[in-house]
Amino acid sequence: MKQPRASQPIMLTGMMIFVMLLVVSQQVQSQLQYDFYHKTCKSAEKTVRRIVRQAIHSNPGLGAGLLRMHFHDCFVRGCDASVLIDSTSASQAEKDSPANNPSLRGFEVIDDAKAELEAICPGVVSCADTLAFAARDSVATLGGPSWKIRSGRRDGNISIKSDVFANLPPPSFNLQQLTQNFQAKGLSQDEMITLSGAHTIGGSHCTSFSNRLYTFNSTTPQDPTLDPQFAEHLKQQCPQTNFDPNLRIGMDSFTPDRFDNKYFTDLTLGQGLFKSDQTLFTDDKNSASTVQLYSEHRPVFNYNFVKAMIKMSEIEVKTGLQGEIRRNCRVVNPAH
Ligand code: HEM
Ligand SMILES: *[C@@H]1O[C@H](CO)[C@@H](O)[C@H](O)[C@H]1NC(C)=O
Ligand SMILES: *[C@@H]1O[C@H](CO)[C@@H](O)[C@H](O)[C@H]1NC(C)=O
Repeated sequence: MKQPRASQPIMLTGMMIFVMLLVVSQQVQSQLQYDFYHKTCKSAEKTVRRIVRQAIHSNPGLGAGLLRMHFHDCFVRGCDASVLIDSTSASQAEKDSPANNPSLRGFEVIDDAKAELEAICPGVVSCADTLAFAARDSVATLGGPSWKIRSGRRDGNISIKSDVFANLPPPSFNLQQLTQNFQAKGLSQDEMITLSGAHTIGGSHCTSFSNRLYTFNSTTPQDPTLDPQFAEHLKQQCPQTNFDPNLRIGMDSFTPDRFDNKYFTDLTLGQGLFKSDQTLFTDDKNSASTVQLYSEHRPVFNYNFVKAMIKMSEIEVKTGLQGEIRRNCRVVNPAH
């Protein structure tokens, strides 16, 4: 009478362990991992780094473009390379949102890297990982910190223009709006401030900030939080009419091609280019003290930037059997 009672729990336990192992092994497969391509494409990261370095050598602005591209990818449908998909006659892609077109740059660098990756290990390395590596390598190449990236992201096959406006913050946002926007992606206000430090490289078109120079509000043409002398300098480069639509103004006017902490010094001087930049120093004591800290301690900024970038680069990623490995980053794989 007692024998079957005893063996039943043992069998059950055995089954449970088997099921648990199954679940665990699937979870391991469906998580990002360091050196994900170690066995399947050993030189993947090295290849991306070489292409990115070459590109930045001929045009440092491309490094800024790639860092921004990764941000714009991750905030819209997660880091799934949806930002890289071209529009078709049937649908307008993220790429063609005004937030991306014409200002987002560096697509050809990803194309070049992906072409090499397909040549050495076809169908293995995702466009999403390629972009994540490229953003990391851009920061390092321009004098910033470097870090290890978990990989194994898979590519999405959906890209919709209107998603961009709904997810990416505009430069007109104030501190509270920015904080909410980043919180919706699982990033704290501190991480938002830290990641804004990316504006230490690259440039902006006049249209992204000229309202601060000429049409602030009905009674005050110029944003009072903008240093007046700096405003004059900006007005010369960005006249109200007949400005050069292709011109880029360095967002960190000191060292636009160097990934340092000067962006935060800019903010302490009233020289943040966007309202969304200056608000970090002007709107609130707490955020101002973080800005002050970063402006004085570059290693602290670097350390926190790396941590926040890793978090950003893992937003809503597809892994395991989700998504696909796009052959060409500009087009979704043909359905089969
Ligand atoms: C906090 C909210 C943010 C806002 C409102 C914002 C807005 C903008 C705008 C309006 C531009 C200039 C576009 C143009 O006119 O050419 C720009 C450029 C840039 N942004 Fe942001 N951004 C934000 C956060 C970030 C983050 C988190 C990153 C990366 C981690 C980033 C990286 C860049 C870079 C590198 C550029 C220069 C691009 C180039 O030179 O091609 N931004 N951003
Ligand atoms: C315009 O901005 C100034 C400076 O921030 C402010 O004092 C004023 O109240 C604003 N006026 C209107 C009409 O919003
Ligand atoms: C996108 O991928 C899903 C599965 O991952 C598939 O069912 C769907 O048909 C694909 N859509 C397009 C447009 O290729």
